[in-house]
Amino acid sequence: MSVSGLFLIVFLAVHLVANIFLLVSPDAFNISAHFMGTNPIIQIMQPLLGAGFLLHIIYSFIIQLQNWKSRPVKYNKVDQKESSTWASRNMIWLGLVVFGFLTIHVINFFWVVKFGHMEHVIIDGVKMEDSYTLVVSLFTDGVLGYVYSSIYIISFIALGLHLHHALWSAFQTIGFSNDAWRKRLTVVGDIYAIVIAAGFTIIPLYFLLF
Ligand code: HEM
Repeated sequence: MSVSGLFLIVFLAVHLVANIFLLVSPDAFNISAHFMGTNPIIQIMQPLLGAGFLLHIIYSFIIQLQNWKSRPVKYNKVDQKESSTWASRNMIWLGLVVFGFLTIHVINFFWVVKFGHMEHVIIDGVKMEDSYTLVVSLFTDGVLGYVYSSIYIISFIALGLHLHHALWSAFQTIGFSNDAWRKRLTVVGDIYAIVIAAGFTIIPLYFLLF
């Protein structure tokens, strides 16, 4: 579960970099999406990414069920707030919100790009999908645009909280941690969580406001 989690952590950083081109110009994003959709290395990584998500989700359920089974009766006195964070105790629920988002997101974009009807543009003589218009229309389509933007932003907050616990915890599980590294990894994890959650949030906000 930690290895698949670390793989997904890398994917999120790559995905955010590709998406930031949305804020640069329509051509910049279309070139970035075209590169992601045609580069052979990315094409090899795509099924691995699907497998990574699947493994991570299946293991999270197995581990959560084991946790619940091992303590069917709650502690009477122990105040868990002293020994763990809210996010760490609610990883399964935060993960479920992200999973719900992912289902909607894949239908919104991935499915349309792969199997739906897409407009095309020609940039520097190369014909490619107009992914920019697809993304911008989702966030600016009247009331529905507000609904999707809100769903996305709430999900990014849940994702940020999920990541707040995820990074150091994954390294600890694979044995790469001690007292000194735990502190460093917590800081790096928090910075990463904030950059990812804020970075993705800026996108719908930018199109809603400007
Ligand atoms: C505002 C934020 C986001 C935007 C605008 C966005 C945009 C896109 C677009 C346009 C695609 C289709 C790419 C293609 O097939 O050409 C895509 C695919 C995908 N996105 Fe996102 N995305 C966002 C956030 C996220 C987040 C937070 C996650 C994960 C939690 C995520 C996971 C995925 C996955 C798994 C795919 C399918 C695999 C792939 O095409 O690489 N996305 N996204």
